[in-house]
Formats: sequence, structure tokens, C-alpha cells
Amino acid sequence: MRLAAWVSERMRTRRVALLALSICLGAASCAAKTPEPPAPAVAERAATALAPFKADLMQALQAGLAESPLAAVRVCRIDAPTIAARAGSGDLRVGRSSHRLRNPDNAPDPWMQSVIDAYRANREDRQPRTVSLGGDRYGYAEPIVMQPMCTTCHGKVLAPDLQAAIAALYPADQATGFAVGDLRGIFWVTLDGTPATAGGSR
Ligand code: HEC
Repeated sequence: MRLAAWVSERMRTRRVALLALSICLGAASCAAKTPEPPAPAVAERAATALAPFKADLMQALQAGLAESPLAAVRVCRIDAPTIAARAGSGDLRVGRSSHRLRNPDNAPDPWMQSVIDAYRANREDRQPRTVSLGGDRYGYAEPIVMQPMCTTCHGKVLAPDLQAAIAALYPADQATGFAVGDLRGIFWVTLDGTPATAGGSR
């Protein structure tokens, strides 16, 4: 009698222990696979960092175009990387990428490629995306969609002098043949989930 009671007591504790263990393991493996990203805070910080980058790029492009498309190409070539470098600070990096590149320096990292693939697979999906890059690092992306003014340099037909200038500067250019509304690429940001010094200065 006492032995039976002892056995059933042992089995009960073991069951409880096993249950607890499986809950722990379950939670641990869940946490390892999909760490809960602080998505709203990360996305908000990334979007805030992108805003001046987008505005400065557009301003530089328009100022160049006001002179001539050839001048604008020079502006894009020289100013775009500088503007991107200036938009980043501390843990935060900013840039552009594409599935059809003009400048090979803008080649996508694997996570960017996945986001681009997802946008390309669904034309209706133009929502920003936040992805975990492991540890406390996150990637944020917004789609870049072709507008009428972009066709001057990324469209199906380019002015011959412009075509020649672009070919000379970018011998491996793949960034023509786009139509208005097409996905041209992405704006991307990489950043920490909990930055040591949020915000930072330029
Ligand atoms: C005056 C010509 C010109 C116009 C107009 C223009 N671009 Fe570009 N674009 C360029 C050049 C040149 C580069 C390469 C910049 C570099 O060297 O980093 C470029 C690069 C890019 C890139 C980076 C990815 C890559 O292929 O290297 C994106 C994205 C892009 N352009 C989108 C646009 C969009 C969207 C518009 C319209 C709002 C636009 N461009 C208008 C000339 C132009």
C-alpha cells in the first residue's frame, strides 16, 4: 500500500516535471526561432530615419533635372551615396536596393532580396516590412514604385545622349525598361532593436 502510494506520488511529480520541462522547451524553442521583434518601435524609428533620406534624394534629383537629365545623372551618382551615408547614424544604416541594379554597390543582402521577392510576387503588397536579422538587429524596408519622372532614366526608351552617359558610368546597368507603377526596388534600414543611444546626432 505504502509502496503503491509512493510510486503514484513519484509518477505524479515526474509528470509535473515533464510537463514543466516541455513547456520550458516549447517556450525556449519558440523564442529561439521567432524572437518577438519590438516591431512598432523599430519600424517607427526606421521610417523616421528614411523620411529625410527620401526628401533629400528627391530634392537632389529635381535640382539636377531642372538643369538637365545629364546633370541629374551626375547628381544621382555623386549625391545618392553621400545622402545615404548622412541619413545613417550610430547603429542605423540606410540605403536603396533593387532586383535590377544600376549601381552594383546597391546589391541586396539576402534579407533584402527576400523582401524584394515578396513585393514582386504580389503587386498589391506595398506595406513596409520589419524583419529580424538575429540578435538585436532588425531590417526595415519600404517599396520604391516607379513614378512618371523616373522613366526619364529608368524607362523603356531613354534619350540617346542620356543612354550613352548611363552606359559609360554603369556598364552593367539593368535599371531600364521599367513602367510607371512597377516595383523599382526598396528603401532599406538596418538598426538595433534597443539602441544604446536612441536618436543620435548627425
Ligand atoms: C536623371 C536620371 C535619373 C532619374 C530621373 C531617376 N534615377 Fe534612379 N538612378 C539614377 C542613377 C544614375 C542611379 C545610380 C546611383 C548610384 O550610383 O548610386 C540610380 C539609382 C536608383 C536606385 C538604386 C538602385 C540601383 O539600381 O542602383 C533606385 C531604387 C532608383 N534609382 C529609383 C529611382 C526612382 C524611383 C526614380 C523616380 C522617382 C528615379 N530613380 C529617377 C538615375 C536616375
